[in-house]
Amino acid sequence: MTLAIETAPLRSLFLLNRSVPDPAVYARIAEIEQPWIDGLLAELEAETDPVPSRAAWLDLLDAQLQAEAADLGSLAYLAHEASYEEFRTFVLEFGPDGLTEAQNFFPAIARVPIKAQLALMRVLIDEFGCGNLQQSHSYLYIKLLAELGLPTELDQVLEHTSEPTFAFMNAFYWLAQRAPHVEYFLGALAYLEASIPPAFSLLAEGCLRLGIQNGAYYSEHVHIDAFHMKEMQTAIREHEVVHGLDATKVWIGAKLLSRVLGEAVENAVERARSTADAGR
Ligand SMILES: [Fe+2]
Ligand SMILES: [Fe+2]
Repeated sequence: MTLAIETAPLRSLFLLNRSVPDPAVYARIAEIEQPWIDGLLAELEAETDPVPSRAAWLDLLDAQLQAEAADLGSLAYLAHEASYEEFRTFVLEFGPDGLTEAQNFFPAIARVPIKAQLALMRVLIDEFGCGNLQQSHSYLYIKLLAELGLPTELDQVLEHTSEPTFAFMNAFYWLAQRAPHVEYFLGALAYLEASIPPAFSLLAEGCLRLGIQNGAYYSEHVHIDAFHMKEMQTAIREHEVVHGLDATKVWIGAKLLSRVLGEAVENAVERARSTADAGR
């Protein structure tokens, strides 16, 4: 355990986040999580000007999404050029995320007013296929992994996943339950839902090009996250109605997620390309 923590602290944190949090587990979570999150927040706070209103947050998000949509280089590579083996490596890297999708959002429900709870629940119900296994996002990922001949159990896939991807997943465990202000979570999830359609349309294209039949995990998100991004803005508006809104914290939450997800995707594509190169 000690060696695993030294070599892959964010993988250890992911496992701790999914354990029963007895005092020893919680202490270890804090030990790994606090310096990592504190560092990230300090950097983001230093580079972020105050955001005066919800309208200003919406403009900033829009500008960020447009800038990112104009520069989807790594994902465009997966859409248009990656080999079957490279694409397969990318899918395996995100296995722990696909297999546990949206599970780490639940603690946030208890932290927002009732109309925001309902908006979040509408998102979560879709993530879990409206109770229908065939539509559940994690099941769609299982089918994708299975078609590619990859393991479909969490303890097996996480052996192949690297630290930047664990950072992305761990961020939501903190955001949903330990972030001191729930605005960080709301901004992060609003960003995630809005950034997925353009990104996943490229991954769906990659599946089509490579003859991968089970690309529905990606195409379903292109469709459903267009609704989820609106639900998240509803949740933010409802939070403002009841508690007021610190729009700067909403924006910092979005920037935090953009940072960790961007690093995870870049690393995953780079890794997929070098793994395939090594096999040539
Ligand atoms: Fe999803
Ligand atoms: Fe979603």
